[in-house]
Amino acid sequence: MPIATASYVFPFAAASDKTPGDLDTLGGKGLSLARMATAGLPVPPGFTVATSAYRKFVAGKDLQQAVLEHARPQVVGQTASFKTASERLQALFAGTAPSEELANEIGAAYAALGRGEPVAVRSSANAEDLPDLSFAGQHDTYLNVRGVEAVIKAVCNCWASLWTERAIGYRHENGIDHQAVAMAVVVQRMVASEVSGVLFTANPTTGDRTEIVVNASFGLGEAIVGGEVTPDTFIVDKDALTTKETAVGTKELTVVYADGQGTRSRESSPEERQQLSLDAPALKELARLATKVEQHFDGVPQDIEWAVSGGELSLLQSRPMTNLPPVPLKDVRWELTEPGSRLERDQVVEFMPGPLSPLFQDLYLPALDVAYYLMRVTQGGNEAGGATYRQLAKVLGGQHAGQSVVNGYAYRHFPAPGNPFVLRPQGRHRRRSRFNVRTVSHGYHETPRRWRHEELPKYLKTVELWRQLDPAAAEDERLMAGIRTLSWADAHYWRFVDEVLAFPRRADEALQQFLGEHVPGANLTSGMLLDGSGSPTMQAPIDLWHIAQRIRSTPALQGLVVTTPAHRLLSALDAFAEGQAVVREIADYLAKYGHQIYSLDYAEPTPSQDPTQVLSLLKCLVLDDDYDPAAQQAETQATRRRALRDASRHFRGRLWWRFRWRLFWAQHYYPNRDESQFYLGAAWPVLQRLALELGRRLVAVGTLTQPDDVYYLNASELDRAIEVRCDELPLSDLKHLAMERRELREARKRLSPPPAIPQREPSSVPTEDAQNIITGVPVSPGKVTAEVSVILSLADFDQMRPRSILVCPLTTPAWTQLFPHAVGLVTDVGGITAHGSIVAREYGIPAVLGLGDITKRLSSGQAITLDGDAGTVTIEGGRTVPPMSTARRRTGRSAPAVADNTRFIGLATPLPFEHSARERLLGLLLRPFKAAFYQALLFVYFKLTGPSGGPAAPAAGRRQARNRPQAPRP
Ligand SMILES: Nc1ncnc2c1ncn2[C@@H]1O[C@H](COP(=O)(O)OP(=O)(O)OP(=O)(O)O)[C@@H](O)[C@H]1O
Ligand SMILES: [Mg+2]
Repeated sequence: MPIATASYVFPFAAASDKTPGDLDTLGGKGLSLARMATAGLPVPPGFTVATSAYRKFVAGKDLQQAVLEHARPQVVGQTASFKTASERLQALFAGTAPSEELANEIGAAYAALGRGEPVAVRSSANAEDLPDLSFAGQHDTYLNVRGVEAVIKAVCNCWASLWTERAIGYRHENGIDHQAVAMAVVVQRMVASEVSGVLFTANPTTGDRTEIVVNASFGLGEAIVGGEVTPDTFIVDKDALTTKETAVGTKELTVVYADGQGTRSRESSPEERQQLSLDAPALKELARLATKVEQHFDGVPQDIEWAVSGGELSLLQSRPMTNLPPVPLKDVRWELTEPGSRLERDQVVEFMPGPLSPLFQDLYLPALDVAYYLMRVTQGGNEAGGATYRQLAKVLGGQHAGQSVVNGYAYRHFPAPGNPFVLRPQGRHRRRSRFNVRTVSHGYHETPRRWRHEELPKYLKTVELWRQLDPAAAEDERLMAGIRTLSWADAHYWRFVDEVLAFPRRADEALQQFLGEHVPGANLTSGMLLDGSGSPTMQAPIDLWHIAQRIRSTPALQGLVVTTPAHRLLSALDAFAEGQAVVREIADYLAKYGHQIYSLDYAEPTPSQDPTQVLSLLKCLVLDDDYDPAAQQAETQATRRRALRDASRHFRGRLWWRFRWRLFWAQHYYPNRDESQFYLGAAWPVLQRLALELGRRLVAVGTLTQPDDVYYLNASELDRAIEVRCDELPLSDLKHLAMERRELREARKRLSPPPAIPQREPSSVPTEDAQNIITGVPVSPGKVTAEVSVILSLADFDQMRPRSILVCPLTTPAWTQLFPHAVGLVTDVGGITAHGSIVAREYGIPAVLGLGDITKRLSSGQAITLDGDAGTVTIEGGRTVPPMSTARRRTGRSAPAVADNTRFIGLATPLPFEHSARERLLGLLLRPFKAAFYQALLFVYFKLTGPSGGPAAPAAGRRQARNRPQAPRP
């Protein structure tokens, strides 16, 4: 009986091929089934009860108002809860029935499928299948429903499932308007599935589009999609349709029809568990069908539910895969850009953890080169001779770089011996600079002074000048000039940071080495003894804590903050009268700290541009009752005093003096470290404003697709685009270029760049007995066994679990906020001088760095033993490599966590990092006396101990210096 004219009910195959319906009418599932059915794909017959039926039902019963009133979060414990809201709404829905008209329509459509036939009644919400949100398993489905009354009841239950606790929570978390959602319901003839499952037409773990990953199990598919069984997993080559990998799952349960209505699950028999649920021909057939479905959906990788009955394949659902990783790159090689040279990922490159964006690479790296060469001109010009200027010209022409880029990743470039573009210090400067009288006195007086009183103010002034420019009113060329100038200013500033950092680094190494030599078993680290005179990076969370305190003092505000997801918090606060003062305080905080970088590459948003991470942290602080910075400061200081007493007990006589000598210098230089690095990227919030404004203009004219595409063009391409834009013309080739480069950069983010090229000995040499022991560079002593938190970037910061071992690619100052939560540190890249090494020792936690690809080998929650003395990581309980990709795709059916429950467990010692005016004046007056005094002291010291008595660079450092080609650095 044709029923296509019904107003609420749409059979799958009734619509014409071109217009199967729309998302708002049929919901995601109903639409995809209709599209597949009209394309002639094997979809069991059925119909969709449109969203208009739901809307009419809700309007008729005056439910909409009740729905909106109730769908508000309550603060229960310390999270947002929708339990009460959901219970009230479920009760409202339960007490009502659909209109007779609708019941008749459903009855007629159901009769058309075959009277009394078992059907599946499945929710199909209109918000489903958004590009980033699958809504997988959010709403209810009823299988094996028989009889018209039962079908109508199940339809009502599907409507009500829009208002379960988990569904409301999911929408709340993802910012989906409750008012806009409506539910369609699919009613479909049951497939008495012998085997069923899910498949992906691309590998969801690796992003490989040439593979199909199939999960299969016996019986109905409810248990697989609900994640209740471990299914069989097959990886099939999409072109050849051959099976590449097979893994037998344990298939604990089998879901079958219950007597009468519904389903039940039974334990699978031992034979079923061992037997593969699909044979080769069936798998091939399924893969072939899957490729057809993908083609039908314009080649977009699909997440498909399927079932087999009596040897017949049926398609039950298809939706685009969400959050699919980019296409993996094949045949990636890490080769030298210049034969005989050497590349290393350290120093400035530690601040460039990911693949570089084209604009940053184009502007920043040459600026760094120029900054270093200028330094040679000004400081070592007499030695370099007239050649310097010629070489500078070469540099500007791009012929030589102090940094090289391999597969998008920056490396420090140590040129081959004999490279004509390298300046080689001569005479007495040939020797590596030692920690001797000359360096110390230069370092003591000149470098920090010049950095603090000349270079830093100069840099900040440039930033300030450009901050005052109104991007909207500026010409394109002016915006471009700003981008260039600020790139240069930061690169120039870095080179002073580099110089300033050398002193704390050397002094710290010297102290650490001394402790290692003389009290090896005492578990003493230099960091324990360094009385941090505070740093801005450590002050930042304390300032945030003050904002949290303000929020905590107003219960309504506290409730709002606890129940609102971080990414919507600012707008929620702004819409709330008492919240506006907090918004202003957050703005002040961001003005002070919003430039803190995770990466120097300005294509990565700074907290100023995207404050979500700051707001997550703020939420944690609002939730944390125990954290008290003052008490913690006192405790940390007491710990330091104790450590100093303990350490002092080990030394007598001359040894004591030598210890105090090293400690003195380490403490003296210590504050420069964080403070100088803190201002790196200070220009980026301003630069990003200019770049995005330019991007918006180029989008308007059609040259780019989205404003941040600007970072994917180089400067000369942007110049060209600006020139053409004057005539309101696009440069369409740039659009594709930017898109391709963006995709390439995304794919490169999944590579693991080796710490050095040519690569050193692999960090892990698995032996028969020690498969799970990986060796790296020991940088901070101690031993700990704990779970790991694998944090790959800023976006994962809220995944850091308290008292876990932090596992990350490398660390920069922005990572310091995670250290208070960590009981150990493990990184892919880095050595004794890395930022992470210094901070780990300061916190007194064991650390092993430079483990190659440890972030890929471990996953969060896994336990490891970290030995900071031996430099080893032992993976507890077996494997180092994650198991073969299984198509597990959902986190179960529990309600999503609405508020972040991570407890903020404390911060480093807060100490003032700026000297008062009085202190500065005193310092100024005393400077000549201090200089003379230290010169005299140094003179006496070296007379007494001889040059070898002074703190020297660590042995390893010196060895490397001999073996390696010379760096283009002083
Ligand atoms: N007509 C049907 N015949 C046999 N099994 C079915 C049928 N419809 C659904 N199923 C089984 O029930 C499972 C779940 O159904 P459904 O797709 O409606 O809900 P879900 O996958 O849990 O949630 P959603 O698809 O909304 O994310 C399907 O994967 C399939 O195995
Ligand atoms: Mg489904």
